[in-house]
Amino acid sequence: MANTTTLRAKGSWREQLVRDLTGDVLEIGVGSGANLPLYRAAAGVWAIEPDATLAAKAESRRGETSVPIVVKVGAAESLPFEDARFDHVVSSLVFCSVADPERALGEIRRVLKPDGALHMVEHIRPTTSAVAAVFSAVTPIWSRVAHNCHLDRPTIDLLRGHGWTVHLHRRRTVFVHVTAIPPAP
Ligand SMILES: C[S@@+](CC[C@H](N)C(=O)[O-])C[C@H]1O[C@@H](n2cnc3c(N)ncnc32)[C@H](O)[C@@H]1O
Repeated sequence: MANTTTLRAKGSWREQLVRDLTGDVLEIGVGSGANLPLYRAAAGVWAIEPDATLAAKAESRRGETSVPIVVKVGAAESLPFEDARFDHVVSSLVFCSVADPERALGEIRRVLKPDGALHMVEHIRPTTSAVAAVFSAVTPIWSRVAHNCHLDRPTIDLLRGHGWTVHLHRRRTVFVHVTAIPPAP
């Protein structure tokens, strides 16, 4: 019973990702806005999404939280914001699909304040090499039917390779919830 209560208190993975974030938050690839009603503590949320139809759906959910929300059409590789603008950046199930993950990460670093953090739930390349090879073999076909989703993106390695410090909150099979701190300027 105690465990059930604890799990309920923690909430869904989406709640755990965004609920307690404070200050100004940027969510990249917001899609239809599934996370937007779950922000509780942010001063404001700016959300970008390259697909204008999805961005309009996200925009329509603005009234589902008391947190002020602005939705813009845009891509993570070219963020329409000034340097050091945000306290937090959120990415949920986005880095598998971005066309240029390195450039997107560089942009996220640029718009984060020096003491800011990137919060991600992503699926990543499996750690077992045989399974990873299967995921890589399937990805060329999968990415064509699943909006450029890559099953073999080594997103955590990408972060670490660029000097980010990665704190793992939760891992379930290939899904991870992490907070990443950018390298010192
Ligand atoms: C699997 S959906 C996830 C949507 C949403 N984040 C969620 O958790 O429900 C992937 C999203 O990434 C977006 N996306 C793809 N390429 C992107 C890019 N270069 N920059 C930002 N978002 C991108 C897609 O348009 C889509 O909305």
